Amino acid sequence: MSTDVILHAEGVSKRFQNFVALDNVSVSFPRSRLTAVIGPNGAGKSTFFNVISGAFPPSGGRIVYDGADITGQPQHRFAHLGIAKSFQITNVFPQLTARENVRIAVQAMHTRYQMFRRREAFSELVDKADELLRTVHLLPHARRAAETLAHGQQRALEIAIALACRPRLLLLDEPTAGMSPEETREMMDLIVRLAEERTVVLVEHKMKLVMGISDHLVVLHQGQVLAEGAPDEIRANEEVKRVYLGRERTHAASREP
Ligand SMILES: Nc1ncnc2c1ncn2[C@@H]1O[C@H](COP(=O)(O)OP(=O)(O)OP(=O)(O)O)[C@@H](O)[C@H]1O
Ligand SMILES: [Mg+2]
Repeated sequence: MSTDVILHAEGVSKRFQNFVALDNVSVSFPRSRLTAVIGPNGAGKSTFFNVISGAFPPSGGRIVYDGADITGQPQHRFAHLGIAKSFQITNVFPQLTARENVRIAVQAMHTRYQMFRRREAFSELVDKADELLRTVHLLPHARRAAETLAHGQQRALEIAIALACRPRLLLLDEPTAGMSPEETREMMDLIVRLAEERTVVLVEHKMKLVMGISDHLVVLHQGQVLAEGAPDEIRANEEVKRVYLGRERTHAASREP
């Protein structure tokens, strides 16, 4: 296979006590492409996301990034390697402004920055933060406390924070969770724009949402890879239809009261 691979999960498994959440999962993520990892509720998507983003180590298998084994590397190493992520659950400093949230993330990536340096150094950080806020369309809200932003805006803020390490690989876990249809559309537009400049891996349980925008899809089911391929292949896959779509109805019913 000649496809250029940025990240490769090789025989990854994850056990929680006796429960096997991931069972020998091997997936290659093509560089400069948008790959969606889909699957029904409880398929193991977030567990897989946590393993490939370095939040916790796998029970078995390897994570290979740009040809180097990074399994078990501490979380901060992932950011320095150019891997950034945004979780399924919102994760910002609520009382700080949008600008401060991003500025802190930018600052954390500048290890040589000193608090006592010239005034310009600080304004440089703020400029970088503002540039990232502009990317996610939050610049007009820069001075608002994060907690006062709408849910969709908070998720966009998290993405700006994730972009602070100038990632070559951006990992997103259900970025549209809990969003209105309008917020969802905006977020999907943003993801498509971000994918023009870097590799994006998007974890999502709503298959329809990602079909139109993904270059490549991976379907997880009960901790295993059920199918992998281009959107048309996945759409036509009988096993995916049977297993995933059958579960999708149950899932939708269980989530929407
Ligand atoms: N820390 C944990 N301890 C024990 N079991 C866990 C833990 N985390 C996940 N699991 C189990 O592993 C399975 C996969 O969970 P996971 O969160 O990865 O699924 P998911 O595909 O992300 O689902 P969702 O669509 O609801 O986000 C589930 O059965 C879950 O209960
Ligand atoms: Mg999940």
